[in-house]
Amino acid sequence: MKDQAIPLLGGLTAEAFLAEYWQKKPLLIRQAVQHLDPIIDFSVLKQLAVRDDVESRLVEYRADRWHLEKGPFRPSRFQRLPETDWTLLVQSVNHHLPHIADLLWRFDFIPYARLDDLMISYAPPGGTVGPHFDSYDVFLLQVGGKKRWQISAQSEAELGLVDDAPLKILKSFVADQTWELEEGDMLYLPPKYAHYGVALEPGMTYSIGFRAPSAQELANQFLVHLQDHLCLEGHYADPDLSWQANPAEISPAMVGQIAQMLAKIEWDHHTIGDFLGRYLTEPKAHVFYDPPEDPLDEDAFLACWQTGNALVLDLKTQLLSYQNSFYVNGEKLEVPNKDIVWWTDFAAKRRANYADLSIETVNLLYDAYLCGYWQFQN
Ligand code: SIN
Ligand code: CO
Repeated sequence: MKDQAIPLLGGLTAEAFLAEYWQKKPLLIRQAVQHLDPIIDFSVLKQLAVRDDVESRLVEYRADRWHLEKGPFRPSRFQRLPETDWTLLVQSVNHHLPHIADLLWRFDFIPYARLDDLMISYAPPGGTVGPHFDSYDVFLLQVGGKKRWQISAQSEAELGLVDDAPLKILKSFVADQTWELEEGDMLYLPPKYAHYGVALEPGMTYSIGFRAPSAQELANQFLVHLQDHLCLEGHYADPDLSWQANPAEISPAMVGQIAQMLAKIEWDHHTIGDFLGRYLTEPKAHVFYDPPEDPLDEDAFLACWQTGNALVLDLKTQLLSYQNSFYVNGEKLEVPNKDIVWWTDFAAKRRANYADLSIETVNLLYDAYLCGYWQFQN
């Protein structure tokens, strides 16, 4: 609810946060999150960082130079780490650990279409990824340990980048605010706000990141979508062709006629909504769904649901709607009108108890269950 105090925002309402801070200015929230159980520690992060379906990075500052290694890592790599000055970062931990996903979905005062993932970093004292900025909004939540965060409102032009570094490090960072974050404290930063975090005690930062595709990326993907969905009739024809003195010339008449043909490529808000439904729910390249090992047949599926088991979205599933259309993991679902209210609730809550639904919806639910897009939870 827009006018309800949100503990995660230190008691601000969603409306107040959006009006005063979102994409505008930083906000430090002391004790934003309490009782973070079970805490993800270095041993859990290491187990994720050796997997090839998980994106991970190791950043070290050693011998006056920045070093960046990308996962998956061999387990032995972690035995060779010094006591200080490195950070292990693991992307999309919400895809793998349900309680981390639950924490991410608590940020539902921002639409799901804007939420990206929850990354976790672990660092011993001195661990840092350097002063930098991100092109998207981020909430930085301290879990365990202590980290000093410095931020600066300096512009991109003033800051400059360190030459020859394997990651973007700001050369002339000068802090205008400094805080020490302890377990449960959280810092919100708008896009392009320079920040520099250095671990003081071994601990973790949970980064809740948001999606902000570039105009170029959106245009590229929209053109691919148009290409896949476009169907233009007819062929070029020139029954009135007149003789050309220069046969090598592409004539203005030809250009004019082709301009008319291409002007038939049209789109409206419906086309853009349909594109976004597919694009925003499309899984990233390394994301795969696990079909059930011992799948129920359709009758047993229905019986399981009717006997009190909730249907819950898989941690990696994205289900979004645009007007009365629904999109799951890059595909459009043909949802019967009668069930739209139910689907709307399913997408918002990411879980649903049994309801009396049309056979078309039950078939859609069953097919997606076979793909591993959702499963039962008792
Ligand atoms: C960190 O976890 O230390 C870095 C996160 C960030 O600055 O985006
Ligand atoms: Co950052």
